Order: sequence, then structure tokens, then C-alpha cells
Amino acid sequence: MRTLEWQRQTYLNGYLGQQLPVSPDWAMLEVQATAAMTPEAAAYIGGGAGLQKTIERNRTGFDQWQIVPRMLVNVESEQPGITLFGHTLPSPVLACPIGVLEMVHPEADLAVAKAATEVGVPYIFSNQASVPMETCADAMGDSPHFFQLYWSRSRDLVLSFVRRAEACGCSAIVVTLDTTFLGWRVKDLALAHLPFLWDKGIAQYTTDPVFRHIVSQMRAQLPPDLTGLPTAEALTFSQIYNNPTLTWDDLSFLREHTKLPILLKGILHPDDARKAIDCGMDGIVVSNHGGRQVDGSISTIEALPAIADVVAGQIPVLFDSGIRGGADMFKAIALGATAVCVGRPYVWGLTLAGQAGVREVLQQLMNDFDLTMRLAGCRSVADISRESLTQNQLTRIF
Ligand code: FNR
Repeated sequence: MRTLEWQRQTYLNGYLGQQLPVSPDWAMLEVQATAAMTPEAAAYIGGGAGLQKTIERNRTGFDQWQIVPRMLVNVESEQPGITLFGHTLPSPVLACPIGVLEMVHPEADLAVAKAATEVGVPYIFSNQASVPMETCADAMGDSPHFFQLYWSRSRDLVLSFVRRAEACGCSAIVVTLDTTFLGWRVKDLALAHLPFLWDKGIAQYTTDPVFRHIVSQMRAQLPPDLTGLPTAEALTFSQIYNNPTLTWDDLSFLREHTKLPILLKGILHPDDARKAIDCGMDGIVVSNHGGRQVDGSISTIEALPAIADVVAGQIPVLFDSGIRGGADMFKAIALGATAVCVGRPYVWGLTLAGQAGVREVLQQLMNDFDLTMRLAGCRSVADISRESLTQNQLTRIF
């Protein structure tokens, strides 16, 4: 539904005593969803690394920039869409890859896939999904979906995941670089809880023929009786999922083995963005993994302008970590992002209302962005530029 109609309908529904399925006040939504989670899920979803400073800065970073609305521009018509890797999107937003969603809802990734399809938002399937990519892809049909890859110690397994992504119609591979190890996640450590050891979030693996072969080989090294221990699958996963030896040279392997566009997720330095282009990559995601990896890291909104300058429009620049509303989206786009990815907020919607909750969160974000864009005097995404912002010093543009 178009933004103004949606807004009008929402107020009319209120007149009839009916409220939105999930709160548009996302601070409230987070509190409500967190209260509905198990302690383990709340720690895993909400938690970040160390003192949680990166999570904090991912938010305060946005406060350094203010939108400067312009008046008397004809903004009657609604044009918040973009094109990305051949897809026309209703809004410059994608759904982040988020692992282990079964911790908050039994339908997990499948609910997100269906909700994203309903509103035309591309969904990046997580390598740590609770539902195999083929099932989600089936539910999405022609709606755009990407696959996020963690590059494990087995190149055969990497290739197997990529082949499956190609076969189920994914239109890009997003390689996450920032998780060579799990960060120092104090909330998970305090509960000594790692969901993968409980067979959660490893559905891409357990449905994979190469992984199953690796498990059968590993079985020989495991005690014959695993009573009271994690499964052979979980133990095998924990030994091979990450690959700290990975370097820029490895990317040529992937480049040679797939024609799909490849995006690198986790870029925070302009030199790394330049290297991505030099290695023939098709896009980057400026991300610090929602503050889960390096405590005290640069926030993504601080990292973005210098990265956008070196990329200079050669490849799409996606952006995540800290997006909590339309104004954040507007600022990221003004500072050079092609589109943004939303993470935890849709998990809050999923927790409270399943598929409908995810759809509502995505729709709210798109509508908030559309209103912000037009109220700022921009007729389309192309009209949004650095001139639309000022940076805590009024002299900059006045
Ligand atoms: C993530 N993220 C993530 N990234 C990735 O590449 N693969 C994954 O499996 C996961 N899993 C995951 C689980 C949870 C619980 C969270 C919160 C995050 C990172 C995610 O894609 C994205 O970078 C962040 O979520 C963005 O930050 P915000 O907006 O959620 O704060």
C-alpha cells in the first residue's frame, strides 16, 4: 500500500479501535520483543561485543548529521525505488542475513522470506539460517534473494553452497568477511550459550551433501557414544565453519567459480573498498555486523563517506548496522549508500508477530523513508545528496 494511503488507513483504523500489529516506536518494539524472548535469545539477538560500544556508536554516529529539508518542491508523486543488480526495488532497503532465527520464532527464515516477498524487499539468506535456502527461495519465487556466505575451511563446501545458491535463484553472493572468529560476545559468554551446538542455525549445513560427507569422515574421530554431547553435525560444524587464513588472494577462487555478482560484507576502510574493486567484486556492504565483532569499532555511518568517495559509483555500496528508521536510511543514502540493510528490527517483528510482524517492520521502514525523503524536498532517491545534510556545524552549508 502506498505511503499516504497506509498512513491514512492507520489513523482510520485507530478511530475504529484497531492499532498497528507491531509498534512503529522501535525503541518500544525492542523492549517488547526482548521481553518475549528466552534469556539465550535475548543475549544472542541483542548482544554485541565487549562493552557494547560499537552498538552504541552505530546509533550516536547518525546524530552527527542532520537533514536540512527544502521547501516548495513538488513531491506529490512517490518515487522511492532504485534498481540493484537488475531488480527494481520499491525502496532502497534489503533484509540483512540474520542467523538462528528459530530462537525467536518457529517459522524463522521462512516467515522472513514470505514477508519480504509480500513487500518486494530482497532478502539475504543467512549462512547460519534455521531453514535451508531452497525452502526460502521456493517461497520467494521471482522476488529477489541473495545468499550470504561464511567461507569455511572446506573449499568444497564453499562451492557446494554457491552452487545451491545459484540453483535456487539467488541473484548475488554476499561474502561476510568480519567473522573470521566470533567476537567477544559477553552476553552469550555469560550464559555459556552457543546456539549452533544445540543444532540451531546450521540448516544450510545439515542439508548439504558435501557437509554430510565431511561429517561421515569426522565421525571416525568422535567418541562412538555422543550421549550428553552435541551431535556429530554440531561438532563438525564448530570445527570447520570459520577460516581465519582467508586473504584477498582467495577471492579469485570464488570469482572464477561463479558468474553471480559477489559482494563483500564488513568493509569499513576505504582501502579495503578499493581492493574489493581491484579484485573484481561487484559490490560491498559497509557493516560492522551490528556491533557484534569488534568493540570500540568505527561506526558504519562514520566509515561510509570516505568509502563512498573511493568507490565513486563504480559498484553498489550497501550499508548496515544501526538503521532504525527512515531518517537513518536518508542519511546513509545522502552519504553515498546505494541502499541499506535492516537487521535486528525485523527480528523484533518476527518475535512478536511472525511473518506479519516482519512485513509490518519492513513496510514501516519503507513508508518512514518515503515520507522523510519527500518532506526533505527530494522527489526521488537520486535527489538525495550530501547537500541534503549538515554536520553539526551550521556554517557548513549556510
Ligand atoms: C547477524 N548478522 C549476520 N551477518 C551475516 O553476515 N551472517 C549472519 O548469519 C548473521 N547473523 C546475525 C545474527 C544476529 C542475531 C544479528 C543481530 C546479526 C549481522 C547482520 O547481517 C547485520 O550486519 C546487522 O544485524 C546490522 O546491525 P543491526 O541493524 O541489526 O544493528
